[in-house]
Amino acid sequence: AERTLILVKPDGVSRGLVGEVIGRLERKGLTLVALELRTLERSVAETHYGEHASKPFFGELVDFITSGPLVALVAEGPRAVEASRGLIGATDPVKAAPGSLRGDYALEIGQNLVHGSDSPESAKREIDLFFPGLS
Ligand code: GTP
Ligand code: MG
Repeated sequence: AERTLILVKPDGVSRGLVGEVIGRLERKGLTLVALELRTLERSVAETHYGEHASKPFFGELVDFITSGPLVALVAEGPRAVEASRGLIGATDPVKAAPGSLRGDYALEIGQNLVHGSDSPESAKREIDLFFPGLS
């Protein structure tokens, strides 16, 4: 089955929304295969968001994602990448559909609660970064 990397970002952890995010993934039918609470090193954050290194918001993005503990998890299921992105909603929480996590619980693009891999290829790269050796 397909796997994806999900992060409950530091805003989600500090606001007490970890259970809400994980609950929605589970109720959708996805299976958890790895889970960890951790605070990211800057170097890991810069690698994770490497595709955005040249963007004006990159510094802010790395500052935010390293600002406190986050929950990293791997979820598995049929078309897990697309299924998770649907639950998460659009990048800009103001535009995210009500009923999606960002649509229901976030307001600012820089603090949008959850990350989900955007393709099976990104998922593989991100899972290897966060959970090296996961079979
Ligand atoms: P992730 O799941 O976090 O990767 O979000 P995404 O795939 O929906 O969006 P993308 O990968 O394009 O951007 C990564 C993150 O950068 C987003 O989640 C936002 O927090 C942040 N970001 C994207 N665009 C902007 C922007 O225009 N301004 C600011 N401040 N942040 C942005
Ligand atoms: Mg992305």
